[in-house]
Amino acid sequence: MAASKSELDLDVVGFGNALVDVLSHQEDEFIAQIGSTKGAMNLIDAERSAELYSLIGDRVTVSGGSAANTVIGVNSLGGSSAYIGRVAADDLGDIFSYDMSQLGIEHSTPRAPIDDPTGRCIIFITPDGERTLNTFLGASNGLTPADVDLELVARAKVLFLEGYLWDPPEAKAAMRYAASAISDGAQVALTLSDQFCVERHRSSFLGLIDDHVDVLFANHHEVMSLFEVDGLEQALDLVQNRVDLAVITLGADGSVLVTPDGTTSVEADPVAAVVDKTGAGDLYASGVLYGLARGYDLRRCGQLGSIAAEEVIGHIGPRPETSLRELAGELA
Ligand SMILES: Nc1ncnc2c1ncn2[C@@H]1O[C@H](COP(=O)(O)OP(=O)(O)OP(=O)(O)O)[C@@H](O)[C@H]1O
Ligand SMILES: [Mg+2]
Repeated sequence: MAASKSELDLDVVGFGNALVDVLSHQEDEFIAQIGSTKGAMNLIDAERSAELYSLIGDRVTVSGGSAANTVIGVNSLGGSSAYIGRVAADDLGDIFSYDMSQLGIEHSTPRAPIDDPTGRCIIFITPDGERTLNTFLGASNGLTPADVDLELVARAKVLFLEGYLWDPPEAKAAMRYAASAISDGAQVALTLSDQFCVERHRSSFLGLIDDHVDVLFANHHEVMSLFEVDGLEQALDLVQNRVDLAVITLGADGSVLVTPDGTTSVEADPVAAVVDKTGAGDLYASGVLYGLARGYDLRRCGQLGSIAAEEVIGHIGPRPETSLRELAGELA
């Protein structure tokens, strides 16, 4: 879609599963007992979600969803962002919409009827700070191309797509539809989200990447799975000429930003204690995307990612509790 660069008034438009998170601390034995895969995103149905919910005591409830966390990170850095994701006309949907509107993040995706409830993610945090996700997608799963606001997409400098939403066929079509509608000079970014998600969708992810993606985010497990290789170096070689920029996170070892011209390594910010890893990848992406939208060099983009990830790892929940703009020294 044609639009001049000056009309691109949104740094990032995120597109993903709109969820409300329920977080609690649990021992590793608990994860084994309930049969969830530790560290992964386990898809569950409404019944299982209610069953897991009934097993937990102290909990924290907060709006979540991977791409939603990312656009909130962009907002906290002082950037402008909007969000496409489907909640229902129910209480959780109200909480989600209220949180977005309080932050000034546009979110106008039509709501699902009340009998198609807002999705939720039951998150267990183990003593090592690792998070195990148990996601009932609910209304977020029913997003179709008709729900996509193309005028919003056309205002984005970067459209950020969440790989978690690559399961339902209609949502896939919606993401491709949005990716086709970005303005001249804008970019499409994709996060692969989860290793098992990559295993389910390897060939169609590669198709999406080749057709639309300029910037690819993945952790090291996901990028190795994408190319079905055992070594990181091999995966980096393969991704190098596939996209304009591949951003690969390496946990405590930081990240590498790979372009056809070379590789920039960025250290992680030291974390005093890994309290809860939920949202580390999402917030890291927010730093890089904000930096790209502002035209910063790749090292600064990666450093902003490390700063944002470090903030969120130090407390429970996937959303920044202090101003990332201040932490990053973006006050000019
Ligand atoms: N233990 C750690 N100490 C410091 N920084 C960390 C640590 N773990 C992760 N990070 C930061 O978070 C970024 C993303 O982490 P990681 O590579 O684990 O992504 P991920 O697997 O997508 O995370 P998530 O659990 O959110 O899905 C890293 O590049 C780094 O900056
Ligand atoms: Mg991740």
